[in-house]
Order: sequence, then C-alpha cells, then structure tokens
Amino acid sequence: MHSTVICPGSFDPVTLGHIDIITRASGMFDNVIVGVFANGEKHPVFSMEERIGFLQRTVGDIPNVRVIGCDGLLAQCAKDLGASAVVRGLRAVSDFEYEFQMALTNRKLNPELDTVFLASDASYTYLSSSIVKNVAYHGGDITNFVPAEIHDEVFNRIKALKG
Ligand code: PNS
Repeated sequence: MHSTVICPGSFDPVTLGHIDIITRASGMFDNVIVGVFANGEKHPVFSMEERIGFLQRTVGDIPNVRVIGCDGLLAQCAKDLGASAVVRGLRAVSDFEYEFQMALTNRKLNPELDTVFLASDASYTYLSSSIVKNVAYHGGDITNFVPAEIHDEVFNRIKALKG
C-alpha cells in the first residue's frame, strides 16, 4: 500500500488541471506531498516562494495535502520524505513518452519508487502552465485555466511582462 505519495511539478503556475490531479490523489492516498521543483529545462516566471504560495492558497486546506519546495532529484526527495510513489497526470498520448522516461529513470535511481499515472479529466487535456502564460501574456481570459484564488495575481504578473 502506498500511504505517502508525492505530486511533483514546476507549477509555474498551478492550473486547474493540477488541482484536479492533486484533489483526486488526496482521495486515494493517506498523505499527499505536493513537491514544487525547479525544472532544469524551464525558466520559471514565478519564484519558488510564489509557486508554493499559489498551491497553499488553493490546496492548502485539504487536510492530507502538504505543499513543500524541493531541491534536487525527485527520486532522492521522495526517499527523504518517505513517499513510495510519484503521482503524475497524463493528458494525452503526447505526454506519455516523457512521463514514461521520467518514471523509469526515477525507478532506476530509487528502486522502491513507483509512479502512478492518473488520467487527466477530459476538460483539462489541453491545459498546461505554458498555455496559461501564453494566453495571459496576450491579455486573454485565463478564468477557466487557473484557480480563482490566484487568478488576478497570475494574470497581472504575466500580462505585465509584455509591458
Ligand atoms: O511540471 P513539470 O515541469 O512537468 O515537472 C517536471 C518535474 C519537476 C517533475 C521534473 O523536472 C523533476 O522531477 N525534476 C526534479 C529533478 C529530477 O529528479 N530530474 C530527473 C527526473 S527524470
């Protein structure tokens, strides 16, 4: 049985798709750690503190969910935190190759670490943090993409990047 799992991501920013996965994971496992990581392949718009804050404001009141910032390898962080599985959402077949590669790498680094994939809710299959940033940058409506609690802050920060 997996009692403690980790939902890792860069969450730049958290979207309604992420919230759906975290909420569903919280109904399946005793303890869900939301781990906010740096992704070496991406340059975040929001600082680690901001990204953690956005998550705390949106999923922080779910009793078995804890939001933390993580540094380093996911496989090692999971071990240190006592998490026996990684939970990731799968939106489409196009996600699979990257996710499968990560899952196998993490398992090689930490043979006790499994990865559980949750099928994304059909209404969020198109959604990503990059899409949110792209739409907001051009002043588009992101109401249906991010939690209401963080909408204004996210929208104003990203829109301001355009000047
Ligand atoms: O939300 P993202 O950007 O798809 O999340 C990717 C993330 C943060 C889960 C991944 O980049 C990661 O695990 N980073 C931590 C460093 C690590 O363990 N790298 C090796 C995994 S293959």
